Amino acid sequence: MSQVQPGDAPEVLDLIGIGFGPSNVAMALAVSEHNAGAREPVTAHFFEQQPRFGWHRGMLIDDATMQVSFLKDLVTLRNPASEYSFLCYLKSRGRLVDFYLKSRGRLVDFINHKNLFPLRVEFHDYFEWAAAKVAGMASYAHEVVGVTPVECDGVVEYLDVTVRSEEGLVAHRARNVVIGTGLRPLVPEGVERGDRVWHNSELLARVDALEGTSPSRFVVVGAGQSAAENVAYLHRRFPGAEVCAVFSRYGYSPADDSSFANRIFDPGAVDEYFAAPGSVKRKLMDYHGNTNYSVVDIDLIDDLYRQTYREKVLGTERLRFLNVSRLAAVEETPDSVRATVKSLVTGEETVLDADVVVFATGYSPVDPLGLLGEAADRCLRDEDGRVRVERDYRIATDPGLDCGIYLQGGTEHTHGITSALLSNTAIRVGEILDSLLDRGVKAASDEARLVAEGTGGTAG
Ligand code: FDA
Repeated sequence: MSQVQPGDAPEVLDLIGIGFGPSNVAMALAVSEHNAGAREPVTAHFFEQQPRFGWHRGMLIDDATMQVSFLKDLVTLRNPASEYSFLCYLKSRGRLVDFYLKSRGRLVDFINHKNLFPLRVEFHDYFEWAAAKVAGMASYAHEVVGVTPVECDGVVEYLDVTVRSEEGLVAHRARNVVIGTGLRPLVPEGVERGDRVWHNSELLARVDALEGTSPSRFVVVGAGQSAAENVAYLHRRFPGAEVCAVFSRYGYSPADDSSFANRIFDPGAVDEYFAAPGSVKRKLMDYHGNTNYSVVDIDLIDDLYRQTYREKVLGTERLRFLNVSRLAAVEETPDSVRATVKSLVTGEETVLDADVVVFATGYSPVDPLGLLGEAADRCLRDEDGRVRVERDYRIATDPGLDCGIYLQGGTEHTHGITSALLSNTAIRVGEILDSLLDRGVKAASDEARLVAEGTGGTAG
C-alpha cells in the first residue's frame, strides 16, 4: 500500500483499462463517443500485452464464422447511429478506385450474402479497424503486472497500475480500472503443452511448421465448436493424414441458436439473471448452457457426418470418432506423440501414435483478483468464495476502498452467460461508463487531486 503525501500529484486518469480485446476496445469507443460531446472528457488509457491488436488469432480459420449476429458488434446495441459499427466498417472497406466511384465498399455485397454471421477473419478485421480508431487511448506491448492501492487519509482513493514494457516498469494512477483480460486456454490437469501437444488456441500459429512433413495422424480432444473446427480444418489441410476425434459424449451436440433460447443473451436477460436467486441462476445455466458450451454449429456437424459417411462408402476412412472415451495418457517424444484413449464403456485402451495432439478443452476466465494485489483483500466475496459484483459490473469492496474496479468478463455467476461473450458488450460498456459518470468520477478525482496537492478540498 502506498501513501499519498502532500505535493505528490502524478497525473490521475479517470479510467485505466487492463487488456485491449473487444471488451475494452468497446469501452474505449464508448468513452470516445461520450467525450465528443462532453464538457469534461473522461480521461482513459488501455494497456494491452500483445504487440498489436489480436483476437484469437490462432483460431482465425478461413471458413469459420461468428456465432453472433453482426448487429451485436462493439457499438450498435448501445448506439445504433455510431460511426464505429460493423456496417460503417463494411462501407469503409473498398479499393481506392471505389472511393472515387463513391462506392459502398463491401456493404452491398454483404447484404446480398443474406447472412447475419460474418466470417471470423472479417470480424477480426472489423475489431482491428475499430481499435485503430481509438489507438491514441491504447498502448500495445504493455503488460499489466500489478495494481497497488494508494491511500489518502485512510481511504484508498487511487489505484497505481504497474505496466511492463520496453521502457521497464512504470506505474500509472487512476481512480477506476476496468479489467478485460479475457480467457485463458485450459488443458486437463497434468497435461504439459509442447511442440506436439497443443491447445487449439495455438492452431494457426503452429500448423504451418508441419507443411511439407507429411503428418500421418492428428488426435483432437474435445466435443465443442473449437474441437469440431480443428477436426475439419486438419482433415482438409492434410489430405494424407488421419484425424481422430476423442470425446466423452456419444456425438457432437448442436448449439441451440433458436430464437426463444437466444433471448438468454439479451440485455434484459442480464437484469433478470442478476436479480434471480442462486437456485434459479443455476437452473438457467443448466437449461441454456447448450447455447454456448460444448456444442457445435449444426452445419459443421452435418458437414463432418457427410464427410465420414462418404469416406466409409469409398473405403478411404480418414476421420475417426472415438466417442464415449477419454484421453488417459499423452506422452511426447521428439518425433511423435503417443495418446492412450480409454473407452468409458469397456475400459479398453487404444494407443494412437500421432504427429500432434490438440486439446480443444476450453478456456477459463482469468481470476480478476490475481492482478489486484493488496486491493484484492478489500474485494468482497460471496458464500461460495466468488467475487461479489454489483449490477454495474463494479466489484463490491469494503468502505475503505473508494475506487471503482469494474469487470468485463468473470461475471458469469452474477450476470449470466454473456459474461465472456460479445452479445452484450456494447450495452455493458455503456452501463460501466454510466456508472463512472453517476459516481461523479470527475468531481471526485479532482477533489482527491487537490487533497494530494495539499491545496484544497474538503476531505481531511
Ligand atoms: P479477449 O480475451 O478477447 O481479450 C483480452 C485481452 O487482454 C487480450 O488481448 C490479452 O492479450 C489482454 N491481456 C490479458 N492479460 C493482460 C495483462 N495482464 N496486461 C495487458 N493485457 C492483457 N463470443 C461471441 O459472442 N461470439 C463469437 O462468435 C465468439 N467466437 C469465439 C471464437 C473463439 C475461437 C474463441 C476462443 C472465443 C470466441 N468468443 C465468441 C468468446 C470470446 O471470449 C469473446 O469473443 C471475446 O474474446 C471477449 O473479449 P475480451 O476483450 O473480454 O477478451
